[in-house]
Amino acid sequence: MAVSAVQNSTQALAESLGVDLSRVPEHVAVIMDGNGRWAKAKGFARLLGHREGYRALRGVLLAASELGVRYLTVYAFSAENWRRPKDEVMGLMKLIETAAREELRVMHQNNVRVHVSGRISEVPDGLRKALTDGMATTATNTGITFTLAINYGGRAEIVDAVKSIVAAGLSPEDVTEETIQAHLYNPGHPDPDLMVRTAGEMRWSNFLIWQSAYTELVVTDVTWPDFKPQHFLEAVETFQRRTRKFGAVVE
Ligand code: FPP
Repeated sequence: MAVSAVQNSTQALAESLGVDLSRVPEHVAVIMDGNGRWAKAKGFARLLGHREGYRALRGVLLAASELGVRYLTVYAFSAENWRRPKDEVMGLMKLIETAAREELRVMHQNNVRVHVSGRISEVPDGLRKALTDGMATTATNTGITFTLAINYGGRAEIVDAVKSIVAAGLSPEDVTEETIQAHLYNPGHPDPDLMVRTAGEMRWSNFLIWQSAYTELVVTDVTWPDFKPQHFLEAVETFQRRTRKFGAVVE
């Protein structure tokens, strides 16, 4: 009889959906889109969509962790999202702060390591404090690294990397791809293997544009508040059917 490597209910569900547990992507990035459309379709305020989005994120983080994903990076607030109505922006900031505080104990118990990505110095003090507390508390955890991209822009990240290279006094001939990688917000993170985008749009929206040069993109029409662990596992299964070539020829 075959010995099953299944260790938890997420892995059992994954296997039933055809996921190969021995080839789980190391790093998954997620563009959590469609909160507004979900709310509008139900006649709710947009912020309610974001609140349901928080619920969905909780399920996906647990599923990713149980599946054995090592890095999960989510786009919680882009550098361009400041253009939204002020009450939505402030509501989102407050929601993310509350979520960071509410979830910290459970994340820590589950050995999750919290990181952030983005121009965090520009977010409200309360949120910044919640994020720095979360990072400090979980710094030595060895489970999944959960990165919240907040006030994040891919172009801004490259600009910040270049500024930091110039400030370090490097000469042009010393600048390589590795140099730029080393000056990104989280230089130790591997590139995402898989990027999942919900709510149907076929674009990157300035998310991890340096890191996703060879990332596989999986787009689903499901809006983020309706996105369940099963959808996440289905995206992983789709990813596993792709052939990654990194510019080479694969027979
Ligand atoms: C995009 O939907 C979503 C966002 C701009 C915010 C993502 C935030 C959450 C999922 C809330 C919870 C986050 C944390 C970290 C607790 P949209 O508003 O652009 O949707 P639309 O395109 O349908 O209008």
